[in-house]
Amino acid sequence: MPLVNTKEMFEKAYNGGYAIGAFNCNNMEIVQAITEAAKECNSPVILQVSAGARKYAKPIYLKKMVEAAVEDTGLPIVLHLDHGADFEMCKDCIDSGFTSVMIDASSKPFEENIEITRKVCEYAHAHKPYVTVEAELGTLAGIEDDVKVEHGSESYTKPEDVEEFVRRTGCDSLAIAIGTSHGAYKFKPEQCTRDENGVLCPPPLRFDILEEVSKRLPGFPIVLHGSSSVNQEYVKIINENGGQLKDAVGVPEKQLRQAAKLAVCKINIDSDLRLAMTAGIREHFNAHPDHFDPRQYVGDGRKYVKEVVKHKIMEVLGSNDKI
Ligand code: G3H
Ligand code: 13P
Ligand code: ZN
Repeated sequence: MPLVNTKEMFEKAYNGGYAIGAFNCNNMEIVQAITEAAKECNSPVILQVSAGARKYAKPIYLKKMVEAAVEDTGLPIVLHLDHGADFEMCKDCIDSGFTSVMIDASSKPFEENIEITRKVCEYAHAHKPYVTVEAELGTLAGIEDDVKVEHGSESYTKPEDVEEFVRRTGCDSLAIAIGTSHGAYKFKPEQCTRDENGVLCPPPLRFDILEEVSKRLPGFPIVLHGSSSVNQEYVKIINENGGQLKDAVGVPEKQLRQAAKLAVCKINIDSDLRLAMTAGIREHFNAHPDHFDPRQYVGDGRKYVKEVVKHKIMEVLGSNDKI
């Protein structure tokens, strides 16, 4: 099966009450970990590539690795551009065979966001085969590439804007801001309470906004960025093996499971893979200070990334056995 776009995948996910995992890829081991996990769970999957990943690995390497994963697994896989900054970047990806792109003009004023998104949609939809487009309304806190949005400067999506935005742009899915944010430090400690073990418990996501948006856009796929849960098991392994991650906190998995049952069809996860990879490598080095073969320590990182992806598919997204 060739690479696919998100259309049919999201239709099935919307109607089936589950979400597709969109995992960020930066190197071969991450691509393998994600797709091997998806294969074992019989799950469709989105492999997404950011501008930073393109700079790090070179677009051609990422593309060929994803194609290798498609051939190796036979799974329905989407190759998606994550946070496309402008028309040119989206066009470049569409021309080189991506089956889905995100145009992120969410930091621009409403009219400008519509204008840029509409232009990308026109180009993507005229492409043969049809390339799907994700857009964003509202801004998340956290770090994306070189842009850092401070906590307090983020803004929730306004439900009253979404119908006009989708109608005028023609986008295929919409990322909304309901309290998630990028990175491993999603909430300031003062925004959280602490449980009996001293672990930070973040404020709940704004499900009222999600529900209002989906009421206004019946059947339309919604996307959540910044959806890592920063599993404390991996943070602990990192810290016990020389790391220093203090007060790292993510979105509780229970809330993501709930969102996946509603209109959310795509859930973006990157930081959780970074933590798993780091935990595996740190643990390996601590246990084997004499090792210097990258296949040994990166291989242990890959093992943990695969474990995390399987857990997400089965316990959070609910996309297992959906092929
Ligand atoms: O949304 C951001 C993703 O985690 C990608 O991060 O731009 O550092 O590759 P990156
Ligand atoms: P996390 O930092 O929560 O993994 O979010 C990733 C993301 O939204 C990629 O676009
Ligand atoms: Zn994102």
